[in-house]
Amino acid sequence: MVETIEWTPAGVVMIDQTRLPRETVFVTCTDYLQVADAIRTMIIRGAPAIGVAAAMGVAIGVAKSADPDADFERICETLAATRPTAVNLFWGIERMRRLWAGLHGKPAVEKVAAAVREAILVREEDIAICKRIGAHGADLVPDGKTVLTHCNAGALATAGYGTALGVIRAAVEKGKKIDVFADETRPFLQGARLTAWELQQDGISTTLITDNMAGHFLRSGRIGCVVVGADRIAGNGDVANKIGTYSVAVLAKENGIPFYVAAPISTLDLTLESGEQIPIEERAADEVTSVFGVPIAPEGIAARHPAFDVTPNRYVSAIITERGLARAPFAESLRALSLLEDR
Ligand code: MRU
Repeated sequence: MVETIEWTPAGVVMIDQTRLPRETVFVTCTDYLQVADAIRTMIIRGAPAIGVAAAMGVAIGVAKSADPDADFERICETLAATRPTAVNLFWGIERMRRLWAGLHGKPAVEKVAAAVREAILVREEDIAICKRIGAHGADLVPDGKTVLTHCNAGALATAGYGTALGVIRAAVEKGKKIDVFADETRPFLQGARLTAWELQQDGISTTLITDNMAGHFLRSGRIGCVVVGADRIAGNGDVANKIGTYSVAVLAKENGIPFYVAAPISTLDLTLESGEQIPIEERAADEVTSVFGVPIAPEGIAARHPAFDVTPNRYVSAIITERGLARAPFAESLRALSLLEDR
């Protein structure tokens, strides 16, 4: 399985997701500013992976600081200012804040060692969580059909195994005969570059389609279900995920196809009543007007780039978490899951 992010004696090592699949290059971040930059520039991306990177960013920040107590909040705030939508970023930072507060009065060297241990634990837990999500979701995947997915919610978007792709992997491991249709995911091409690559590495039969083909195939009868990840899920079950997810969800419902969202509990934001309140990242317009640095639109054209959209809960058949499934009414089912122990 691909190593998305690792803590090593040399620093925080990440596979550079801006260069896959053409080059497999690893980047070593030796301070927290480099980790923040890697999140912002999407060397590492995907909500759970961003959460792990944030925790490791805090750990390397305090490890490299001459006065970790004095620098702690600046490190956290710098990391928190990288990307606004994936709540896992803030979850990872909050976890480190709680740990640090609990070590008040201890010698700095002990606190730093504990921060490093915690960040490594966040990564290990994430892999285990993805496997549990897969186990809970595998039964939902119809045998003998195609699963459509959008963006990359795979090993690369997590510490390993994936959420949406974890469900697909678990279904395959159970012996189900399925194949995958991967939306290319304009403009950053996570589907074409990352999902296609990691499923191919695993030998899972995958067909790449452009985003505007999804409706055509959802109407064709071959798609058994849609499974996607999430960046933030509001208390009522509205789901923020990669731009284009909403269109897929509407088309799935129109064609009577179940639309599943696979995400860890750390992606729930129960402080928000609805998806209306989820902050949507707007990225640079040149990611739309250019492909790999080559302009494809007339110079000076206006372009927009909301990186995420919100799918209202009425389009969501179930949310698959490591603690089990949530179904409508989501306000109740999500709250109940949030109070459960992991299983
Ligand atoms: O902009 P990205 O690539 O970070 O967006 C990623 C997604 O939208 C994923 O679907 C989501 O983070 C879930 S990853 C398990």
